[in-house]
Amino acid sequence: MSSILNTYNRKKISFKRGKGCYLYSTNGKKYLDFVQGIAVNSLGHANDHLIRAINKQSKKVWHVSNAFIIPEQEKLAKRLTQKTFADYVAFQNSGAEATEVAIKVARRYFYSKGQPKKNRILCLNNSFHGRTLATIFASNNKKSTEGFYPKVDGFDHFNFGNHKELEKKITSKTAAIMVETIMGEGGIKVIPDFCLRGLRKICNRKKILLILDEVQCGIGRTGKFFAFEHAKIKPDIVPIAKGIGGGFPLGACLMTKKVASGMKPGSHGTTFGGNPLAMSVGNAVLDVIFKKGFLKNVEKISRYFHKELQKLKQEYPKVIKDVRGMGLLVGIKISQDQTKFIKKLSDNKLLTVRAAENVVRLLPPLTVKKKNIDQAVAILKKVCKTYR
Ligand SMILES: Cc1ncc(COP(=O)(O)O)c(C=O)c1O
Repeated sequence: MSSILNTYNRKKISFKRGKGCYLYSTNGKKYLDFVQGIAVNSLGHANDHLIRAINKQSKKVWHVSNAFIIPEQEKLAKRLTQKTFADYVAFQNSGAEATEVAIKVARRYFYSKGQPKKNRILCLNNSFHGRTLATIFASNNKKSTEGFYPKVDGFDHFNFGNHKELEKKITSKTAAIMVETIMGEGGIKVIPDFCLRGLRKICNRKKILLILDEVQCGIGRTGKFFAFEHAKIKPDIVPIAKGIGGGFPLGACLMTKKVASGMKPGSHGTTFGGNPLAMSVGNAVLDVIFKKGFLKNVEKISRYFHKELQKLKQEYPKVIKDVRGMGLLVGIKISQDQTKFIKKLSDNKLLTVRAAENVVRLLPPLTVKKKNIDQAVAILKKVCKTYR
């Protein structure tokens, strides 16, 4: 019997090593991994450049307190701000922490402007921003909040696609709107570009902040560094994690100079966040993602993937109801509960992961090749053929 707290229905597979798109199980089987730690291993397993970077740093210094200047941190922050909307970065260890910082920064901004009562964050129902107390009540999905009351106050909610409700829920106490640019756990639901532009306009009109959670959809996964870039808008605050660490725990909250002005020494802190080891991996991930042509290739390969999945949907309309997502953040909605479908894929050596609304998520590394996509599509096809 396991001594690990029972919070996961773990599959009975474990792995001894990985390389690129593949995982090798302890019982000698080879799997095509389209989970990649849920959009974490952006460069696949055991990437040579990341291995070199972490090895090199591990021989110098692993950890120092944020009470000192950390050059690797300065470097990563510079690179992130030079390439994006942001002027400042706060490094954390996870997506939930990065999102908590986003919430804190928004509140603190209005506090510092003498509006401490303007502290509520308007979020989407059934979204996912993490598993801390604040982020579960921001997310407002029953699976995460059940049994964890009293509620953390300060969050209001509207339904996906309900523009009227959104406008109605903004009050004089609203500090920010916070949404995932693409809802990941919620079923790979893409907020259309015109809605993102609408959100930006509403926030400007109401003089409130726009927080876009890019923990799952950011860092190149959609073919642009941030998913919101497709809509040509600029948010005020963006939490990131997952892909930026390439498998090493690393989160960050990016923000503009305007909103950063509310924070000061002592208003936030972290022991581990931004340590030299994590920063060396983050910098190495960016070496690859910022390489000329890398994101263009993600766009190209994902176009091919979506095209193949659409063909599959047409061939098996009774099994696949919808193909969702953008870039390499892909979901296929199955006609019924997806548990059996995911198990059959796994039996055929393709690893995938569920999302809400009967969606099977397909999250290859950004380095995926056409032959890997073809292999995945062939397995999907085989399972569709016999599925009922
Ligand atoms: C959009 C989004 N935000 C936040 C989180 C929380 O990240 P973490 O699990 O690293 O705390 C996740 C994790 O899946 C996520 O998808």
